[in-house]
Amino acid sequence: MTTTETLEKPLKKEVSNMLLKGKKGIIVGVANKWSIAWAVAQACMREGAQIGFTYQGERVLRNLEKLFKEADLKDPFSVNLDVTKDDELALASETIKKQFGQIDFFLHAVAFAKREELGGEFVNTSRDGYHLAQDVSSYSLIALSKAFKPLMEEKGGSVVALSYLGSERVVKNYNVMGVAKAALESSARYLAYDLGPKNIRVNVVSPGPIKTLSASGIDDFGKMLEHFRTVVPLKKNVSAEEVADTCVFLFSDLSRAITGELIYVDCGYNMLAM
Ligand SMILES: NC(=O)c1ccc[n+]([C@@H]2O[C@H](COP(=O)([O-])OP(=O)(O)OC[C@H]3O[C@@H](n4cnc5c(N)ncnc54)[C@H](O)[C@@H]3O)[C@@H](O)[C@H]2O)c1
Repeated sequence: MTTTETLEKPLKKEVSNMLLKGKKGIIVGVANKWSIAWAVAQACMREGAQIGFTYQGERVLRNLEKLFKEADLKDPFSVNLDVTKDDELALASETIKKQFGQIDFFLHAVAFAKREELGGEFVNTSRDGYHLAQDVSSYSLIALSKAFKPLMEEKGGSVVALSYLGSERVVKNYNVMGVAKAALESSARYLAYDLGPKNIRVNVVSPGPIKTLSASGIDDFGKMLEHFRTVVPLKKNVSAEEVADTCVFLFSDLSRAITGELIYVDCGYNMLAM
């Protein structure tokens, strides 16, 4: 096996550097085994972190329980949370406080837009569709940061949100989600400014396309994956595990002077002109 082939697979527990030993974190956005958030959770646990999960409703909870069983996790903490509901945000924060006291980090891996907004002409974006995409995919970072700030204030913390290049460049069919991601990235910078004095860092990781449930809602996503791997300098698609390892770095003390930053994990795609 070449070094690249080895690194494409999730790093084994045996090669853990325990970069997150003694840290506690909350992962928001696991839906199933393909979720990028699930890869991030596993990488954080490999590095010694204690992880709690939020889930959006009973259907997702059933998926999570299956994943916990498969990963042989003993009774991990999880709490219901729809990020558009202020009462659920307050209750989740309270429940997490009871369980963990303080936390050291959280992942925002949440996005949603109506199927009909992710294809066709952007000019036809509906007012409702625009609001919904912004509320779930962008405002939620502000709402979560506000709800979880009291849990990180004592020792400081690290927040990571997942974005996509469609925020800055036009990616066919990404449409309203591109605008929501632009707002997400900008919000991360304002949050980094506000929360910096409390030593709470806020950064954004921007992966290349990865086949997940959310991604399957975008028209022609398969073609996008194929195009991507032929043009990028590293000549491959990005894996969720590669994104997860960058999140580990940002949650760890190795990144202690980095905030308000956007890091691409995209095999070099974002620098290309042609
Ligand atoms: N897959 C990709 O190609 C790709 C590329 C770049 C960025 N991202 C981003 O990564 C993040 C995770 O997406 P994914 O691809 O792993 O897909 P996914 O479908 O596995 O995850 C999306 C998550 O958002 C959650 N969610 C949606 N609405 C919610 C709400 N109201 N309250 C709480 N949770 C809600 C879903 O339950 C799900 O867990 C998203 O922000 C996505 O935009 C994905």
